[in-house]
Amino acid sequence: MPRAAASANVRAMNYRHAFHAGNFADVLKHAVLARILDHLRRKDAAFRVIDSHAGVGLYDLASDEALRTGEWQGGIGRLTGIDLPPPLDAFLAPYRDVLERVNGGRDILVYPGSPMIATTMGRLQDRFVFNELHPEDSRQLAAQFATDRRVRVTAEDGWITVRSQLPPQERRGLTIIDPPFEEAGEFDRIARALGEADKRFQTGTVLAWYPIKHRADVGAFHYAVENSGIRRVLRIEQWVRTPGGEGPLAGAGMLVVNPPWKLAEEAAAAMPHLTERLAAGPGAGGRVDWLVGE
Ligand SMILES: C[S@@+](CC[C@H](N)C(=O)[O-])C[C@H]1O[C@@H](n2cnc3c(N)ncnc32)[C@H](O)[C@@H]1O
Repeated sequence: MPRAAASANVRAMNYRHAFHAGNFADVLKHAVLARILDHLRRKDAAFRVIDSHAGVGLYDLASDEALRTGEWQGGIGRLTGIDLPPPLDAFLAPYRDVLERVNGGRDILVYPGSPMIATTMGRLQDRFVFNELHPEDSRQLAAQFATDRRVRVTAEDGWITVRSQLPPQERRGLTIIDPPFEEAGEFDRIARALGEADKRFQTGTVLAWYPIKHRADVGAFHYAVENSGIRRVLRIEQWVRTPGGEGPLAGAGMLVVNPPWKLAEEAAAAMPHLTERLAAGPGAGGRVDWLVGE
């Protein structure tokens, strides 16, 4: 085992995505992910998805963890079984299609994480590397995809994965960087990882997620990326109440490097409707803009 992975292994890993699966932040992240995959699969040529912080892949919404927080009810629970305004309906279509497929067209009982969304949308020729460091989650992830020959599951420090897996041999693909923000320094690590990804695989798409807790931290992260030399960086953010106070997560965002054509317009058209559906208090809002242009 590499030294960095060993040292990451010994620190406490308290975050479990099972408590949060399907919440408002997952909805936006996974809707964007599904739109990127929808674009990638329009060409026959194979693509590869590299997910550095993958979680377990599929979440039972009746598990103790999900029931304990009920977070999914303020996320995906607000978007099912109802008619949605056309721009939101169109934006969510590939994501909702995956939800239907993994639930066999019935009510939503299980929620697909990023690995399950990727494999459900991928074709036979596509390849997937899913990395998860938490030993128990990593075992569960490996069991989930044990019979899927397109998938390789690894259990190293995800910051190594971003370096070791790029560029993919297919030369087309997506890197997902979705750390738990359990410890200080995650914004800096993401900024560095984006730089690495850009250096190694300039034409690839990268989706990097972050929480919006304190605007100053997010602002410093954006400033670092803006000044890194990376081009074509789309910023998509949503907050379900005014961020800044204590209590549950109020907002989340992502940077998408080399987003597919039209993602910016489609996300911008959907955002006001999504905010209206997911608002959980005063000050809810969202934004879609280019942090760095061409
Ligand atoms: C936000 S969750 C991932 C959710 C997943 N990407 C999805 O969208 O379904 C973050 C995951 O990273 C894992 N993790 C924490 N530190 C890690 C590290 N250094 N390397 C790899 N995985 C890590 C956690 O155990 C957790 O499962």
